[in-house]
Amino acid sequence: MCGIVGYIGYRKAAPTILNCLKALEYRGYDSAGIATASNGSLHVKRDVGKIAEVHEKHNLRDLGGSIGIGHTRWATHGVPSMANAHPLVDCTGKLAIVHNGVIENYSEIKEWLSKKGHKFKSDTDTEVAAHLIEENLKRGLNLEKAVGSAVARFKGNYAFAVLRLGEKKLVLARDGSPLVVGFGKNEMFAASDVPALLKYTRQFAFMEDGDVAVITRKGAQFIHKGRRVKRRKTNVNWSADMAQKEGWPHFTIKEINEQVVSIPAALRVGVKRGAELVRKAKRIHIIGCGTSYHASLIFKQLLANHAGLECDAWVASEYKEGAVIKPGTLVIAVSQSGETLDTALAVKHAKAKRAKVLAITNVVGSSLARGANANIYINAGPEVSVVATKTFTAQVAVLTSLALAVAGKKPKKGRFAKKIKQVLKLGRQIKKIAKKLRTTNDYFFIGRGLMAPVSMEGALKLKEIAYVHAEAYPAGELKHGPLSLIADGIPIIALAPTGANEPKMLGNIKECKARGGRIMAVSNSLRIIREADWGVNMPKACDELTPLLYIIPLQLLAYYACLERKLDPDKPRNLAKSVTVE
Ligand code: AGP
Repeated sequence: MCGIVGYIGYRKAAPTILNCLKALEYRGYDSAGIATASNGSLHVKRDVGKIAEVHEKHNLRDLGGSIGIGHTRWATHGVPSMANAHPLVDCTGKLAIVHNGVIENYSEIKEWLSKKGHKFKSDTDTEVAAHLIEENLKRGLNLEKAVGSAVARFKGNYAFAVLRLGEKKLVLARDGSPLVVGFGKNEMFAASDVPALLKYTRQFAFMEDGDVAVITRKGAQFIHKGRRVKRRKTNVNWSADMAQKEGWPHFTIKEINEQVVSIPAALRVGVKRGAELVRKAKRIHIIGCGTSYHASLIFKQLLANHAGLECDAWVASEYKEGAVIKPGTLVIAVSQSGETLDTALAVKHAKAKRAKVLAITNVVGSSLARGANANIYINAGPEVSVVATKTFTAQVAVLTSLALAVAGKKPKKGRFAKKIKQVLKLGRQIKKIAKKLRTTNDYFFIGRGLMAPVSMEGALKLKEIAYVHAEAYPAGELKHGPLSLIADGIPIIALAPTGANEPKMLGNIKECKARGGRIMAVSNSLRIIREADWGVNMPKACDELTPLLYIIPLQLLAYYACLERKLDPDKPRNLAKSVTVE
């Protein structure tokens, strides 16, 4: 999704903004730009491409002034082009604006503005905001009021940063899309996300939906529904280094390897208050999108098996379509970013029906965390790669502790970090398998019980970064249809730890082999490994912790499959780290 940066202070704005934009690259984008103001002129440079390409072409550092805004655009309205790249300017050429989100009613506003003589130069929804603010300024409003009055007309969701020539301030607005204010000494920042600003500050205020903020060199003022309000400052204990590659070729592989620390850290997270809420609830719903949904499915099974409690798991965007929410319902909202709009809207819907919300997030102070009745932070540290790896396992670790705590139990950790290390060492073997499969474009992932959601997560990783077709099925479902697709050479990734499901998995593996399928078995059972074309030997772990180990070979497979195809694992096409549109 689009990334926003704003700066006002004593440094040269353009290079500062450029650094922050680079730290936002992981959000996914197709064009970039910066606007600054100095010596009575507004300077704007923007173009299609990655920041490095735009910089190479236009020298983005070479813009004067110590106030400015920057943007990485993920195209929604209008193709990626120079004209549609942000910052966009009004008719006077004195006001520049960057935007994240979608203005749903932009066409009617555009028509109204066109009749008033405004000339549009892009196909974006954003440009109406620039002209509407211009119109409000003509009426004599100051910049913050002009912005406030403009956003009040918008339907949809947005985060804006606005720069006007001659003003010693930036104006920000948010509703539905994330925007944080960063505090420095004689300088202030704004950005879509905390990691963008870690090089400069660790003190943040998170804007609320409906807020307008004014930042000057000296600080920030927040306005909500026309009134001055206070927004709490939060210190974030992440460092800029944590969001650097530190010698690894990609963030993806760095973050996969960091699981040796992040999983044990997440298993230590306190879940007492969360467990009380689950015990007291009349109904339990767990919601999330993508990877977070897969983590939710694991919780559902563990809660049933360990605490004997029923829990409905929902893809957040489908929650409104059929969930029965009554007072006494607890909604566990799982989102590593805490900013996913689908999850936020599902939570809003549940709260309107008097449900309680327990948020499981990675980002302290994120929208989801702020709006929840209780929070559990998964403690994974910043995750830069678009694909979730260490945040998935941290979510699963916390949810495992939570499900067990409801039953008064704890996971049997043993020497778990050692086992994680052992699994990470399988990277070399998996790299070779990925090489053998480099021309294969259809994969099946199968597993039973806790391994079914892990298969889904493994297939998702492969789709996201290697761009190959991968389907996941509970292994028992194969014979109900998809078996017709198993033919010569099709790889089947079978997750089969020892235990009650092992004999059935063995049967499923044989079924696939009989039809020409090639098996990559991830297992600690010799019987299973012997059946496989590629046997990935796993250490034994207690049942409830197997998902945390078994996902790692699948993350590695996706990573190496991606490299075999000469793709960039950190920035998969069409995807964004935090998805702030519906
Ligand atoms: C995971 O690799 C994906 N990038 C995606 O499915 C992600 O998990 C989903 O968009 C939800 O994000 P969230 O956890 O930040 O809410």
